[in-house]
Amino acid sequence: MHSKNPIGVFDSGVGGLSVLREIHQLLPQEDLIYVADSVHAPYGDKSKEFILERSTAIFEFFLSYKVKAIVVACNTATAAAVKELRSIYHLPMVAMEPAVKPAAEKTQTGIVGVLATSRTISSNNFQILFARFADQAKIIPQACPGLVDQVEQGDLDSAETRALVAQYVQPLLAQNADVLVLGCTHYPFLKSIIQAIAGDNVQVIDSGAAIARRLHHLLGHHGLLSDGQQAGSVHFYS
Ligand code: DGL
Repeated sequence: MHSKNPIGVFDSGVGGLSVLREIHQLLPQEDLIYVADSVHAPYGDKSKEFILERSTAIFEFFLSYKVKAIVVACNTATAAAVKELRSIYHLPMVAMEPAVKPAAEKTQTGIVGVLATSRTISSNNFQILFARFADQAKIIPQACPGLVDQVEQGDLDSAETRALVAQYVQPLLAQNADVLVLGCTHYPFLKSIIQAIAGDNVQVIDSGAAIARRLHHLLGHHGLLSDGQQAGSVHFYS
């Protein structure tokens, strides 16, 4: 493993680009390879077995490029497959975690809404995360079927997308949530309409920047930070 080797980043589709941009901003000298498994998006309605099979295929693709680290830029793949992936592959790996911890610290009303896919919400990981902060805040999960498809279609601002966002956000506001966690990497691309519907008194947060910081820390820990002076390359595969 060499510090000059690239880093693999993947998602079911374009959502992980919201994480990739944070990584590229924090670590501009790193070479990045992004994979969108677009033909199989969304992962949210697929089985755990299928998501593990797809993740394994993408890991093998990355390994053929001798990546030094992999970022699972998908909450759904993290929830479904990360435990198994960590037991199979022993390279530095960063996976998603919805930003419930900072949300529990920020909330004034004590109520936090979490927008994510149904598979993420029903996962064991999420139930554990949920329980970890249950004494700090009331965490209300909201599954958002259809939102990933809108983002995949590049439909970020139509009446249909707004109506869907409103349908998911309004019940959280009605329960007095003042922090909304974007627990799916596709949703940061809808942040401006989520914020507009939620209003200025509600904070909308995601974990992209925290994931980039975690990657920075992990690469440093393993002596794998690129010392190149030039801007890194970014390659995209679908
Ligand atoms: N970006 C994925 C996530 O963070 C999307 C899930 C999906 O494909 O359904 O959960």
